[in-house]
Amino acid sequence: MNTAHLGKVRDEFLTLQELVAAARRNLPPGPWSYLVGGAETETTVRRNRLALDSIAFRPRVLRDVSQVDVASNFFGRKIRLPVMLAPIGGLESIVEGGAAAAARGAAQFGVPQMLSSVCQPGLEQTAAAADTLRVFQLYVRGDDAWVDDHVRRAKDHGYTAFCLTVDVAMYSRRERDLIGRFIKPWRATAPAGSNFQSALSWDQVKRFKDKHDVPLIIKGIATAEDAELALQHGVEVIYVSNHGGRQLDHGLGSAAILPEVVAAVGGRAEVWVDGGFMRGTDVVKAIALGAKCVGLGRLPCLALGAAGTSGLLRALELLEEEVRICLGLLGTASFAELTPRHVTAAPPVGEHDVFSAFPHLEK
Ligand SMILES: Cc1cc2nc3c(=O)[nH]c(=O)nc-3n(C[C@H](O)[C@H](O)[C@H](O)COP(=O)(O)O)c2cc1C
Repeated sequence: MNTAHLGKVRDEFLTLQELVAAARRNLPPGPWSYLVGGAETETTVRRNRLALDSIAFRPRVLRDVSQVDVASNFFGRKIRLPVMLAPIGGLESIVEGGAAAAARGAAQFGVPQMLSSVCQPGLEQTAAAADTLRVFQLYVRGDDAWVDDHVRRAKDHGYTAFCLTVDVAMYSRRERDLIGRFIKPWRATAPAGSNFQSALSWDQVKRFKDKHDVPLIIKGIATAEDAELALQHGVEVIYVSNHGGRQLDHGLGSAAILPEVVAAVGGRAEVWVDGGFMRGTDVVKAIALGAKCVGLGRLPCLALGAAGTSGLLRALELLEEEVRICLGLLGTASFAELTPRHVTAAPPVGEHDVFSAFPHLEK
């Protein structure tokens, strides 16, 4: 990484919001709308923020927080914050170098990257770009042999775990893209192999678990019922997600779903979550509610769009600082001390949209 550029970026961006504003200036209208938009009315997008904004803290005081440890672990390896880069298709339309630029930022900071199967460069080149903790996420768009080939390649290239995204049985109507006539350079309408995606069932999860000895994450769980089924199939990680509100419209916000899934899982597997997480306080809320790791989708993309790999690193530094302050003000010296008693339901304040975490952003 270019340290002079990083120094400049640190001086230029004192808040996450400033990175978001820079991304908006830098990105052309098509990629911008693709990045920030959601399905149809974007109700699920807004509910992701609404759910987070409807949680308040119950701080404890007079507990020595002179040293706050914000680290966590990920499949037994230490990570600097309990967050990872969620899989993003088409990253190459947001930042030069695409997934490789994101991998370098994740590695330099010390958090994992989950690589999307519809992103450039592919899994081999991204693995070669940076020595980061990595997970491979697959959209199932081929037969069993096709899936097995991806598992083999991912394992050969040091991917720690494998993720199947399962909230994409149909490709949603992203109206910002349609209205803007934005044709994604990497595909036109329905992706090749989307019939496999629609036909996917728990039978394939069973086949996967019987055949492969790699930890499996199911991304896109939104009910206790499906969490229970995932457990019955031996899934290691239940990833609560509504795809950032980009698939089913009128779903619940992820942070509202999290407690029912955590209760259903009852410690038998890890629960991860994403959807609307933009600030350090958001991350702390998820961990207090029982998530082990938080996926960041749009935030890293915005940071990459603002200032490339240095921008991503800066965003993660700012997030870490926000997390440290939040934990300290809650009277907790580490995530291990955080409990569901540190949060409570509260009436939300203000508006709820993809940017409501940044109230000073010019509309
Ligand atoms: C531009 C964009 C592309 C995405 N591509 C994928 C993908 O290829 N695979 C996937 O499982 N999820 C994908 N997602 C969903 C994210 O992994 C994640 O679930 C979501 O962005 C989290 O919400 P947030 O953006 O509010 O943080 C994408 C999201 C965005 C914004």
